[in-house]
Amino acid sequence: MQLSAMLASAFLLLGASTGALDVWVPRITFPTAGAILAANSQVNVTWTTVNAPQNISNRAMLLLGHTGGNYPFILAKDFDLRAGFVTVAVPYVFTGTAYTFVLFGDSGNASPPFTIESDVL
Ligand SMILES: *[C@@H]1O[C@H](CO)[C@@H](O)[C@H](O)[C@H]1NC(C)=O
Ligand SMILES: *[C@@H]1O[C@H](CO)[C@@H](O)[C@H](O)[C@H]1NC(C)=O
Repeated sequence: MQLSAMLASAFLLLGASTGALDVWVPRITFPTAGAILAANSQVNVTWTTVNAPQNISNRAMLLLGHTGGNYPFILAKDFDLRAGFVTVAVPYVFTGTAYTFVLFGDSGNASPPFTIESDVL
């Protein structure tokens, strides 16, 4: 089971235990598929705020990982999901074309794969 799936089920259980869950899965609008980000740079990750519930029960969190792989980096947490963006530092990682961000609102939602360009291949 992937980490994102595990986190998603944990969040769903949390919601179920309080009896109130608006499942809102914000869709990432940047980076788009094939975008190229520079390692060690600041970027704004953006998402659509259409249909955002008034109260979002779970903490916001943005993870960096590989598509179909694991998500070792927590880049930001507890930011305002209704803002539609968060500014994060792209970690100093190896160059690769299959990075993805996973944004947690009430559930996890992955961006399409994008590239991080580094001076280390
Ligand atoms: C992120 O967005 C904010 C608000 O629009 C802007 O002030 C800031 O310069 C942006 N940062 C980057 C790294 O694009
Ligand atoms: C949202 O939270 C505020 C403050 O806790 C509360 O007053 C309000 O009734 C909540 N709204 C909804 C739709 O749950």
